[in-house]
Amino acid sequence: MSRVALVTGGTRGIGAAISIALKNAGYKVAANYAGNDAAAEAFTKETGIPTYKWSVADYDACVDGVRRVETDLGPIDILVNNAGITRDAMFHKMTPQQWKEVIDTNLTGVFNMTHPVWPGMRERKFGRVINISSINGQKGQAGQANYSAAKAGDLGFTKALAQEGARAGITVNAICPGYIATEMVKAIDEKVLKERILPQIPVGRLGEPEEIARCVVFLASDDAGFITGSTISANGGQYFV
Ligand code: CAA
Repeated sequence: MSRVALVTGGTRGIGAAISIALKNAGYKVAANYAGNDAAAEAFTKETGIPTYKWSVADYDACVDGVRRVETDLGPIDILVNNAGITRDAMFHKMTPQQWKEVIDTNLTGVFNMTHPVWPGMRERKFGRVINISSINGQKGQAGQANYSAAKAGDLGFTKALAQEGARAGITVNAICPGYIATEMVKAIDEKVLKERILPQIPVGRLGEPEEIARCVVFLASDDAGFITGSTISANGGQYFV
């Protein structure tokens, strides 16, 4: 029986590449999304991967969403916490709303999604939780106090939960993508991207979503059973930890 994987924010950007790569690796995949119905519909049409709409920022919606996925596909073995948003602003201009939205989705969302799948993983003595953090959670980024705080929080969460899950056969790892060619990065002002960001990437280009997806497929596999609490940095050499 193939294992079941749930990818949050799994219909666009890095998440879409992850959903497709997991499907190609033989998993039964469910892709969650929060708002863009048209993109989700097109994604299912193209890939055959079912999509489920709820906001990871809403705990009750996550509990209900997990229940729906498990009713359709079976118990969730692999959770990829990928959903994330940006509300970039220099700190002196950042509003409490911009802070809250990013923390609610990018950090609390990881709690909200992991909490409902955790008891089942413990019972079945198998699980993979893969958190998509960010280079900017490692190094910090001007204009992203909210995002950097949330993504750094995801790394602390990963390390704490890895210790709790180890004896139950659950691994918990993080991936820190650098700047990847997605809508999120393309939304950065072109001048900022060209003049400030690209020159900082030794490989000389943005990453591809599939380059992150391949890291996920590895961490999800049985081959990665001895790896837990780890962070894979995939950033073109922009930052070493
Ligand atoms: N370090 C220090 N100071 C900086 C800076 C930096 N990296 N970037 C800008 N500043 C300074 C500027 O020099 C300027 O100072 P002065 O007023 O003294 O001249 C001041 O901050 C304001 O800069 P901007 O003119 O750029 O301000 P803005 O309000 O127009 O834009 C911003 C602010 C939206 C945050 C813009 O700078 C920006 O988009 N920066 C990029 C942020 C970024 O990297 N986001 C990543 C998004 S992708 C992602 O998040 C995915 C992932 O995981 C990697």
